[in-house]
Amino acid sequence: MTDRYCVFGHPVGHSKSPAIHAAFAKQTGEAIDYAAIEAPLDDFAGAWRAFVAEGGAGANVTVPFKEDAFRLCDTLSPRAQRAGAVNTLVLGANGQTYGDTTDGVGLVRDLEHHGVELAGMRILVLGAGGAVRGILEPLLKAEPASVLIANRTAEKAERLAADFTDLGGIRGGGFEAVTGPFDIVINGTSASLAGDLPPLPDDLFVPGATAYDMMYGAELTVFLAWAAERGARPIDGLGMLVEQAAESFFQWRHKHPDTAPVLAALRQSL
Ligand code: ATR
Repeated sequence: MTDRYCVFGHPVGHSKSPAIHAAFAKQTGEAIDYAAIEAPLDDFAGAWRAFVAEGGAGANVTVPFKEDAFRLCDTLSPRAQRAGAVNTLVLGANGQTYGDTTDGVGLVRDLEHHGVELAGMRILVLGAGGAVRGILEPLLKAEPASVLIANRTAEKAERLAADFTDLGGIRGGGFEAVTGPFDIVINGTSASLAGDLPPLPDDLFVPGATAYDMMYGAELTVFLAWAAERGARPIDGLGMLVEQAAESFFQWRHKHPDTAPVLAALRQSL
């Protein structure tokens, strides 16, 4: 029987996950069906239960349900436990629901594929919302020299950093506390959506620095365009999207798809 998977979101029509997983399935010879399901805002758990009752074996979870998904899980990966959010649900043989978050490992793998070394680097992360919380554990485990989280609301960055201090050198503050330069700057704010740019000093980057935006599009985001003008190498989050999907696929099917051709096709389609 064909195993069923889906991505839950609201809205979800724009999601690229069905195309990505269809490509992974074709490449690996796995017979899976993968749909996009718009879950009701007030009953995510009901949507997951209904999907399981219809033969669902696992799911991806996107905005705004990652915390709802976290709450319904019977067991969690340590990284999901720390993130307080889940983007991958797996139905166990015992009928229990296991939750993981693959966003952070997706980011780290995408940086690796771009040849960006993390160990020993000074990293600045912009933003202190759910998206940033989800990437911090894998980022810190890559042993950077330091991580500074800067956020419009400084206290949120301070609190977030405090939750991760056991994993290494991390601190948080407001944008005014940012004094560079940095080797890697990761934008995890949603400011680009509004065409906004966090207030940042001009001398943010070392020569040869990397600027990474967790968002992506046909053109450079406002942040990446600003960074490229200051000499940094701009990388958008499309690769992270494909890598987090590949890690979810691995959780379900125990096969690692080759992400490069899938990313290339997706880039073409933007
Ligand atoms: P997500 O799940 O995408 O992280 P979120 O939890 O709402 O969403 O967090 C959004 C992040 O983008 C926050 O860090 C937010 O800053 P505040 O904590 O001060 O609200 C940041 N953000 C959103 N719009 C911004 C803007 N115009 N300028 C700077 N930061 C912005």
